[in-house]
Amino acid sequence: PGEVPETGLPEIAFAGRSNVGKSSAINALLGVRGAARVSGRPGRTQAINLFRVDDRLCFVDLPGYGFARVPEAVRLGWKALVEGYLGGREALRLVVVLVDARLPAQDLDRALLSGLDAGGLPRVVVATKADKLSRSRLKPRLAELAGQLGEAEVLPFSSRTRTGVDALWARIRAAAGIG
Ligand code: GTP
Ligand code: MG
Repeated sequence: PGEVPETGLPEIAFAGRSNVGKSSAINALLGVRGAARVSGRPGRTQAINLFRVDDRLCFVDLPGYGFARVPEAVRLGWKALVEGYLGGREALRLVVVLVDARLPAQDLDRALLSGLDAGGLPRVVVATKADKLSRSRLKPRLAELAGQLGEAEVLPFSSRTRTGVDALWARIRAAAGIG
């Protein structure tokens, strides 16, 4: 984390389990394909990647957690990197926590949220891959996830259909203090 360059811009970080769709969400928000590298194989993002947005803010793509099929030392390295960044970044304004809309809340997601609470870091929880659920199943699923995670609200999101892109941008702009 000590090597992550200072940008002088408000930073918005994207965190969540491996393969949940963090890099895809960044691309969807930017409206650019291929800005952040996406892969069907978990563990694609292995370093902290910064994306400067219009010289007004900076998106921070974090490596995913919970991916077991890498050597323990590598996994612990990612964990230290992510925790070091989240724990000590002056410019960090908001953590976008991504969870999979199809899955029940995971212990690692709860652990991340309580870590953010402890650090007093603002976050917004986003349920991604919402395109995989029918509209009638999505709504109760969001309520269920919110209950399981102890969140007032979980925003639906899909990088495929762009559901939730505008709502998430509104949160990001508010957190970064930009119009
Ligand atoms: P790591 O870098 O490994 O932590 O993964 P990540 O969280 O950055 O996930 P990534 O964006 O690489 O996406 C993982 C897989 O999920 C890819 O195959 C994406 O195409 C797919 N995916 C991401 N977002 C969505 C979505 O909203 N809907 C659907 N159907 N698939 C998605
Ligand atoms: Mg990634």
